[in-house]
Amino acid sequence: MVWGIRNRLAQLIQKDGRVLFLPIDHGYFQGPTHKLEKPGETIKPLLPYADAIMLTRGILRTCVDPISKKPIILRVSGGSSVVGDDLSNEDQITSIREIIRLNASAVSMSIFIGSKYEHQTLINLAKLVDECEDYGIPVMAVTAVGRELEKRKARFLALCCRIAAEIGARVVKTYYCPENFHKVVEGCPVPIVIAGGPRVDSEIEVFNFIYDALQNGAIGVNLGRNVWQSQYPVAMIRSLRALIHENYTPKEAHNLFNKNKTVKD
Ligand code: 5RP
Repeated sequence: MVWGIRNRLAQLIQKDGRVLFLPIDHGYFQGPTHKLEKPGETIKPLLPYADAIMLTRGILRTCVDPISKKPIILRVSGGSSVVGDDLSNEDQITSIREIIRLNASAVSMSIFIGSKYEHQTLINLAKLVDECEDYGIPVMAVTAVGRELEKRKARFLALCCRIAAEIGARVVKTYYCPENFHKVVEGCPVPIVIAGGPRVDSEIEVFNFIYDALQNGAIGVNLGRNVWQSQYPVAMIRSLRALIHENYTPKEAHNLFNKNKTVKD
């Protein structure tokens, strides 16, 4: 692996081999998402606990201090919205010059397997990998399902992750599934991180599924709504850190959450 890719991956993947990425890119297709209306304010207390943040160039420029040393995963695909015809109709929306100018540690792009625009999004990924590898920038592929959340099953996710890795993604972001998640990981030759999806009912549920994903080979999370839409976002991200980087069990993480809930953010 070339030096630049290794160096940037080392900024993202911690010495223990694990990651806690904080995505705030949701506005790129759904506008001012609940609790992300002012992204700068949302992330301020959370940044110290995240290994990297994932966002678009517009939010990076307007909401993140350029002297911040927090590694950036730049979301570079887009071009559709929740009110448009088809969420899968995406292209690359940020040039390689801009990616370099913004000093991104990695870039992320969605692929929509099984959708009308499957071919287009896979070719987008291939072109992005070619461009980014020239400059030592790792690409994280996002296996998107659009509105079809029911697609999040092991067989489908394994197919998506493997295809993303075959095209050259250095990391793949996918969803957790309760059955056979290990098959998703085993079929993918590059590290897998999981997203959370829409906010779930209880914190312990989040800790349980992340713990299970880690036990089955995921290297960490790219978790957004279940952190910053929580009533106690700082307590939430601190427990996630303990779960991911300090090998806490879900119960221990939950106890820590209850303790930190009472601390003023
Ligand atoms: C949006 C994304 C998000 O970054 C990803 O889904 C993770 O966020 P969440 O945990 O809220 O699902 O790729 O397109």
